[in-house]
This record gives sequence, structure tokens and C-alpha cells, in this order.
Amino acid sequence: MKKILAMLLALVMVLALVACGDESTPATDAPAVNNDTPATEAPADEDPAPEGGNLVGVAMPTKDLQRWNQDGENMKAQLEAAGYTVDLQYAANDITTQVSQIENMIANGCEVLVIASIDGEALGTVLDQAKAANIPVIAYDRLIMNSDAVSYYATFDNWDVGVKQGEYIVEALDLANAAEGTTYNIEFITGDPGDNNINFFFDGAISVLQEYLDSGVLVCPSGQTEKQTVATANWATDAAQARFENILASYYADGTQLDVVLASNDSTALGVANALASSYTGNYPILTGQDCDVANAINLANGAQSMSVFKDTRDLAAKTVEMVDALMKGSEPPVNDTETYDNGTGIIPSYLCEPVVCTADNIQEILIDSGYYTADQLAG
Ligand code: BGC
Repeated sequence: MKKILAMLLALVMVLALVACGDESTPATDAPAVNNDTPATEAPADEDPAPEGGNLVGVAMPTKDLQRWNQDGENMKAQLEAAGYTVDLQYAANDITTQVSQIENMIANGCEVLVIASIDGEALGTVLDQAKAANIPVIAYDRLIMNSDAVSYYATFDNWDVGVKQGEYIVEALDLANAAEGTTYNIEFITGDPGDNNINFFFDGAISVLQEYLDSGVLVCPSGQTEKQTVATANWATDAAQARFENILASYYADGTQLDVVLASNDSTALGVANALASSYTGNYPILTGQDCDVANAINLANGAQSMSVFKDTRDLAAKTVEMVDALMKGSEPPVNDTETYDNGTGIIPSYLCEPVVCTADNIQEILIDSGYYTADQLAG
């Protein structure tokens, strides 16, 4: 009897572990959850040991931000359709967790690693293990810095994302034709300081806005203009909201008009929009973003955000799958840029997908007609 009970207990534990492993697969149509609570992500030591040949390890940063759920899901589906087995893991924005997940992928026999890093500087040793085991590493969306284990980089044209945000602001305020003495108040917010992408988003936007900051047409009342000062740990919505509530209370409570906020992405733009809703009564400012998350697409439609930059994660997944497939078959992965992305050990051959401006005017075409979202999802 004792033996049977012990066997039953073991069976229950195995089933429980399998169930935990399943949690690492994102739910379809995951809503835009922009907070810091990584409750549903499986700790590294509960990784399932995937079976089957041609195993691809896909390490994603977090389920908290909508896009990574879509990225992971798109990639898993497309890799499986191409005949590969996928070990997809989310790391709850915890670097140690991501490192152990990648260690497990290597131990489990993954033949290619696709990694969207939490902190591009923090993966060093585990990547040396991948290199020693001859496992090619594709940096996904975010470049992994200072490691010669990185073979390829699949991303969007990140500089162009920033340029598009800057150009939108110039056109919306018609800055090129600003009358003598006209000034507009601007505030800035960007993302995680450990994400190399902020250098491209922020610097790309500033490359367009700099002449207007220099000429005094754009003025920043808070004086917070440096990238490190306007950075947001983990791109967190609540941190963005708190910082903007503070800025609004300190510099705009006397009725000063805020004309424009350059926000590098949608999770931070959402925090800004929340702060504006709670603590600002002037004319609503121009507000930029990036990703076209569901909550932000709804804000575009109702006027609480001016623009976002659409990055079709289906395209990025498809390009990454082509890269994986080529590496598995010993052929050349597709690249279209061999100049821009130096990770500190040299240029990483990259494929840059194209970002597209999205506003209330083209939501239907870009987000709904393309099948990215259903009209119901954006109904608000
Ligand atoms: C991505 C953005 C995203 C941000 C926060 C960046 O690395 O390129 O699309 O909004 O991370 O997740």
C-alpha cells in the first residue's frame, strides 16, 4: 500500500511539474499588462526538459510587457511549423533567472539559441558556455553587448524608430516654421538603461529634435534631458507614471502648458498618459510611443496618445526563423546590415525589419486589416 501511495505521489509531482512548465508558454491574445508583477513566469529550475531533435532555445525577458508574449508565441509557432522543437522561456525580468534558463537550454542540447536579453551586458559567462559548445547565438531585438559568442542580430531599425518619433513631433508642431519667439515645452522618457536599444531610440529622436532644442524652440522645463536621467528601469509603466506625476507637480502645476512628451515606447507612454489623466488639466500634449500595444492602440483611437511605432513581431519572428533554419542547415542566414551594430567585440551581422508610424488615422489598416489585432481587441 505504502509503495502504491509513493508511486501516486511521484506521479502527481511529475504532472505538477509539467503543468508549471506549460506556464512558460504565453496565453494567446495576452492583454497588455504593464506592471512589475511577474507572477506567471516559471522559475528556471522548473524548466521542462524538452524532447526531440533540432532543439531551439528561445529566451524572452518577461511576460509583463505585451510584445514579448507576442514575440515568443510567434517564434514558437513559426519554428514548430518549420519542424523544430522549441524550448521557450520567460525570465520575469530577472537576470539570474535568464542566465539559468540559458544554462538549462545548453544542458538540454539546444542547437541554436535565440535570446532577447534583459540586460545586454549581463550574460557574459553563460554565452561563453554556448560558444564552447558551438551553439550559435542570435540576439533577438536587443543586442547582447561585449560578447564574441553573438553570431547574428535580428531586430528592427531601432535608429529609425527614434527618427520617426522625432519627425512626428517636428511635423505635428510644425517646428520648421515656428514663428520667431515661439517656444514649446517638451519632456522626455526612455527605457531601461541596460537595454542597448535606448541608445538608438533616444539618440535617433534627438538627432531630429536637436536643432530645435539648440535654437530654443523646444524648451524642457524640468531640465531632465540626459538619457540616463530620463531612463526607466525595466521600461515599467508605474515608474514612468510616478516620474511624470512628479514632473507635472513640480513644473506644470502653475498652469504651464506641456506641449509634447517624447516617450520611447508604449509601456512608458502608458505611464505618462496615466499621469496626465490624474495630474494635468492643460491642453493634452503630443505623446509618442512604440509597439502598438493593445492599451496604447486604444489610447491612439481615443486621443490619449498621438502616435506609436508599429513593429510587426510576426515579421521579426519570420526573419529569426529563417536565420535559425539557415544555421541548422549550414547555410548563410539573411542579413541586411553589416555596419550599424557593434557590440563591443565587432560588428554583428544584422537583419533590420522596418518600423511603421501608426496613428489614429491608420489603425484600421495597420493593426486590424493586417490581422495583427481583431477589432474586438481594440474596442476598448
Ligand atoms: C524593444 C521595444 C520594447 C521595449 C520594452 C525594447 O528593447 O525594442 O519594442 O518596447 O524593449 O519591452
